[in-house]
Amino acid sequence: MANSEYEYVKREFEFDRRLPASNWIVVRIDGCHFHRFSKIHAFEKPNDENALRLMNACATSMLEKFPDIVFAYGVSDEYSFVFREETEFYQRRESKILSICVSYFTSVYGMKWKDFFPNKDLREPPYFDGRVVCYPNMKTIHDYLAWRQVDCHINNHYNTCFWMLVKSGKTEKEAQQTLKGTFSEDKNELLSQQFQVNYEDEPAMFRKGSSVYRDKVETKVKTDDYGNPIKRIRLAITVSNLDIIGPEFWGKHQYILQEDMSM
Ligand code: GTP
Ligand code: MG
Repeated sequence: MANSEYEYVKREFEFDRRLPASNWIVVRIDGCHFHRFSKIHAFEKPNDENALRLMNACATSMLEKFPDIVFAYGVSDEYSFVFREETEFYQRRESKILSICVSYFTSVYGMKWKDFFPNKDLREPPYFDGRVVCYPNMKTIHDYLAWRQVDCHINNHYNTCFWMLVKSGKTEKEAQQTLKGTFSEDKNELLSQQFQVNYEDEPAMFRKGSSVYRDKVETKVKTDDYGNPIKRIRLAITVSNLDIIGPEFWGKHQYILQEDMSM
């Protein structure tokens, strides 16, 4: 194809940043102005189960659509997507990867809204921002995910106390004052003494956030000539609300970050 005299605008001005090879790629998206969005749509405080399940459904669609995403972790209005280390998704072009993730997630959020809120109209367009960060080894990926889950715990612990105080009659300012300077143990004590609530009994989705990954599950594919079941291990996209800070989850699911499961 002949180049026009204008072609230089691409050749000389457009740059495609390619993310460094042999790095894990994390795309984190975050709802824009969800403080307002959650008010307009009357989300339950501090956690709206349907809103969180909708986020999980969007993340599940992401893993279905993009096999190079090996793990996703979400809390509140944010979701992180981990691409396998050697991914060649869009030749590792940063702007392609980021824009595709953000737009795909946002579209699915709108499409699935009615499945989770059949009696609520979407009154404002939901939109998300996004960023890409590269991590050079598995330790930093584990630490990244641990950082997000610690954040989930700190915020949820605080918010659980805050909204219990408010729902029991305190003003938001009073609740804030009550919680100022408190440590984790103080919050647990407040919950159990004033509200007879054991924080550990709160739903795991609220306390731990949600992880989405391909789990190895055993399924019966057929029966042999003698009627015995023939089982196969297959990968099924799964949402769980487990601890991903300690070694247990990663010990049991080493293959998530180690095997090439994109095929
Ligand atoms: P930007 O991300 O900077 O645009 O601001 P934001 O308003 O989205 O706030 P941020 O991302 O820091 O925090 C998310 C906010 O979303 C929370 O502070 C809540 O106000 C709201 N939110 C997220 N999940 C829920 C939920 O389940 N219930 C309720 N009531 N609010 C939620
Ligand atoms: Mg936000």
